[in-house]
Amino acid sequence: MKALILSGGKGTRLRPLTYTGAKQLVPVANKPILWYCIESIVAAGVTDIGIVISPETGEEVKNKTGNGDRFNANITYILQDKPAGLAHAVKISQPFLGDDSFIMFLGDNLIESDLNKFLNSFQQKQLDALILLRQVDDPTAFGVATVGSDGKVIRLVEKPKQPESNLALVGVYFFKKTIHQAIANIVPSARGELEITEAIQKLIDTDQNVEASELEGWWLDTGKKDDILAANQIVLDARLKSQNLGTVDTDSNLSGRIAIGIGSKVISCKIRGPVIIGENCYLENAYIGPYTSIKDRVTIISTDIEHSVILSDSKITGIHQRIVDSVIGQRVLMKVSPKRPQALRFLVGDDSQLEIM
Ligand code: G1P
Repeated sequence: MKALILSGGKGTRLRPLTYTGAKQLVPVANKPILWYCIESIVAAGVTDIGIVISPETGEEVKNKTGNGDRFNANITYILQDKPAGLAHAVKISQPFLGDDSFIMFLGDNLIESDLNKFLNSFQQKQLDALILLRQVDDPTAFGVATVGSDGKVIRLVEKPKQPESNLALVGVYFFKKTIHQAIANIVPSARGELEITEAIQKLIDTDQNVEASELEGWWLDTGKKDDILAANQIVLDARLKSQNLGTVDTDSNLSGRIAIGIGSKVISCKIRGPVIIGENCYLENAYIGPYTSIKDRVTIISTDIEHSVILSDSKITGIHQRIVDSVIGQRVLMKVSPKRPQALRFLVGDDSQLEIM
């Protein structure tokens, strides 16, 4: 059994963050989304993992994630030269996959559930494919399944305008080697991609064993800003443990679960957990409210913020109108000068969003 994680794509819906980085590396509770995928695969006992990367962000993914040692896994990187679809990613990974069965995990999906029980049922029933489904409000944004009463999948349609059900395909799939033949028999879709959904449909049409299981627990497809905030909230709620490896002065007032990384200093702050603060941050005279994740080397002075995600090396000073529901990228400078609060001066990149309310 192997695993294939797809970590290519351009992340257009997460711009501007994804102009400078891979969407799969955007942190949730200070850990890249991709790393949660790796950890759940390893927890299911699969350690031979291929990661499909793109020319644009592949180097960053490789440099950050490494050869797998930190996860007790073996990682092989596979370059997909163009975003030609999920099935295309499987096709180019054939030399890595060989004749093995594999778990395919989309690197921007986060799930709460263990993979073990799905893996067991895939193996015991000797299925050609096991797909995971979840009821959603707007199925038109996903692959959609129609399932018979026996649990067998009847039909799959990628992003249908008129969905036959509200069962969306979660970005985690289990495949036998028969998927390769199915992929060889499909052609690019209207959006020009080799769709994995169509390849699975080929398996169904040729009477192979395709089953579906409904996923329990949370599932997050972290494609957009609000998805990142939702994921951050859920993961902080479910998994954050208190830990203080930094220094907190006696004027500060902390409550709830709070994790503070090595080298970080907290001076005269009020912090209400769950909050995670990375390494070498400097926080002074600030209010940090629940569901905030602050990555490494961030400075926050005289500022109120909550329910937000701040990436590395950013600096925020003098903003006491509370910052809420915000995702702030790397190396961002946000500053309100105490001397001239009536003037605003910006250097704002393409596709940024500023809402002054
Ligand atoms: C992909 C799949 C879709 C699935 C979704 C889950 O869509 O094509 O069937 O429901 O992932 O995240 P994409 O995110 O590439 O638009």
